[in-house]
Amino acid sequence: MSFKKATKRDVKLTMGISGPAGAGKTLSALRIARGLVGPTGKIALIDTEGAKANAYADNIENGYDIASFASPFELDKLEDVLDAAVDGGYQSVIIDSLSHFYAGAGGILQQVEDESVRNGGNGMKAWAHVTPKINRFLERLKSLSIHVIVTLRSKTTYEVARNEKGKVSVQKLGLAPIWKGDSIDFEMDHMLKMTVDHRAIVDKTRLIGLTDKIFDKPDEALGKKIREYLAGGIVTPPEVVATVAPSVPVEEPEEDTAPKVPMKQQLLSQLEDLAHATGRDIGEWFPKLAQAYKKDNIEELTQVALKEIITKVKAKMAGN
Ligand SMILES: Nc1ncnc2c1ncn2[C@@H]1O[C@H](COP(=O)(O)OP(=O)(O)OP(=O)(O)O)[C@@H](O)[C@H]1O
Ligand SMILES: [Mg+2]
Repeated sequence: MSFKKATKRDVKLTMGISGPAGAGKTLSALRIARGLVGPTGKIALIDTEGAKANAYADNIENGYDIASFASPFELDKLEDVLDAAVDGGYQSVIIDSLSHFYAGAGGILQQVEDESVRNGGNGMKAWAHVTPKINRFLERLKSLSIHVIVTLRSKTTYEVARNEKGKVSVQKLGLAPIWKGDSIDFEMDHMLKMTVDHRAIVDKTRLIGLTDKIFDKPDEALGKKIREYLAGGIVTPPEVVATVAPSVPVEEPEEDTAPKVPMKQQLLSQLEDLAHATGRDIGEWFPKLAQAYKKDNIEELTQVALKEIITKVKAKMAGN
């Protein structure tokens, strides 16, 4: 084995864009892609919403090509369409949206449910059966020789919290992409979180100049800058970049939120997601967990205990 000097040349972009309905996932993906591949580069868009993305045909210089993907939303079929995009000479492919392959008809959740019915209700075994398909798909996605942008629908999580004085407050805990856990955040090189007012918050990036930036209506200039960077250019954020606002009302927890409360609520929320993912009934499972830790209810568990449970459940889901 030998070491080679790290270089940015020939790096293909993998980007996820998440956001609620109407936030700007489709149009931003198209504009960034246009900037990435240049005015004459070919863009392919895989549309899971009945060719809804035709709407922007006149907004993107030299257009783009659409393939409509109907249910069942199976990842292996999606891999075939991705191969077709590569073979078709496209320089960039957009999957709009990947969330359909998780929560849509015939997607991951349904496959897990079907598998669970087949094996007598064992949710964990069902996940162990389906998870390798997701992993294989993500590996394939990352290894594509063209730029990849995936959009993800997102949901807002609200938690009702009670402070020491018993006052109840509702906290917005942020937008989680509709996909399995946080695997997509790990696998993509860049993640943008779109807000309802069409801003993109750079949630994750490998481009130092983009770290923590916020873009108002991401455009072709952003795609072009990313292309320059990937080709070994200098990292300078485009002029349209807004300075990082200290607080983004749509995404951030309330300022007066004590940091420990949201963290614990987030862990509880993760545990709820895991219960859902593994087919457990929260009403039965949470009291049992509390009992195991000698507490009256789940909310009395420490963060360490909650993290421990989450780690164990995830390990089992991964088949370890
Ligand atoms: N990057 C952008 N540049 C200019 N306008 C934008 C941008 N992003 C969003 N918008 C505005 O928001 C509208 C909705 O954008 P878009 O269709 O991309 O949302 P979406 O998140 O894909 O919605 P859905 O969840 O319904 O698919 C656009 O028609 C446009 O008016
Ligand atoms: Mg859309």
